[in-house]
Amino acid sequence: MAQAGQEKDLLTKIGEVSVQVLGILSLLLVIVWSVHFRGGLAWSIENKGLIFNWHPILMVTAFVFLASEGVLAYRLFPGTHQLKKAIHLTVQLVALIIAAVGITAAFRFHNESKPPIDNLYSLHSWFGVTTYSLFALQWLGGCYTFWYPGAAPPTRSWFLPYHASLGIFIYILALTTASQGILEKLTFLQSGGAIGRRSTETILANCLGLVIFALGGVVLALAPRPKPRGPDPDLPEYRPLE
Ligand code: HEM
Repeated sequence: MAQAGQEKDLLTKIGEVSVQVLGILSLLLVIVWSVHFRGGLAWSIENKGLIFNWHPILMVTAFVFLASEGVLAYRLFPGTHQLKKAIHLTVQLVALIIAAVGITAAFRFHNESKPPIDNLYSLHSWFGVTTYSLFALQWLGGCYTFWYPGAAPPTRSWFLPYHASLGIFIYILALTTASQGILEKLTFLQSGGAIGRRSTETILANCLGLVIFALGGVVLALAPRPKPRGPDPDLPEYRPLE
């Protein structure tokens, strides 16, 4: 019995370390792609491609790296339930702010190119707007219900499983959107002849997609599952299965 418990602890520890390793790896890969292979970053310059390069970096930072930390905040961070809740809320808010700048970079790239490029024509962009809107609504709903002003205890209990399931859905949507973006960018580059189908850049970007989904797999394996409990708002209802 004790051994089974130890194995479970070890597996959990490996999962938690993997989340950090895969998260940092996804950041490194997207930075190397944008900075080394795509020519670097700029916010105000004639070469609008350099403004666009912020988009993948900021979106992966927000909706892959930070969103993963946010989903697992109750498990990864030490402290009281209230503190973990504050971290959960803050990490997701920072993700929303960074993602807003990231999406602005993509719009600026389209609007300021000569001639301008149409906005919101691709499936990726539709998924992107949907992901962002749902992420923002989820944050507002969670903040209102569980933080300030805070709903009545029975309402919290009723809402918690929906908040958790919808959160997981939005997280998967974000990973899917990121991988669509990678595929779309690679397809543009390959069909325009800018890079080869088997180039180092293609391999790196494909690896980025794989790492993002590997991260997602581990996060979902560790993700908190809400257990229906009593109406006491201070009970740590939203916590991982141990
Ligand atoms: C979850 C993360 C992401 C979200 C929410 C997102 C969202 C968006 C949105 C809303 C647009 C439309 C901009 C416009 O129409 O002016 C866009 C454009 C674009 N994004 Fe992303 N993006 C994400 C990640 C990525 C990543 C990782 C890449 C990889 C390079 C990428 C590549 C592109 C490209 C190439 C465009 C321009 C073409 C198009 O409009 O589809 N995106 N993105």
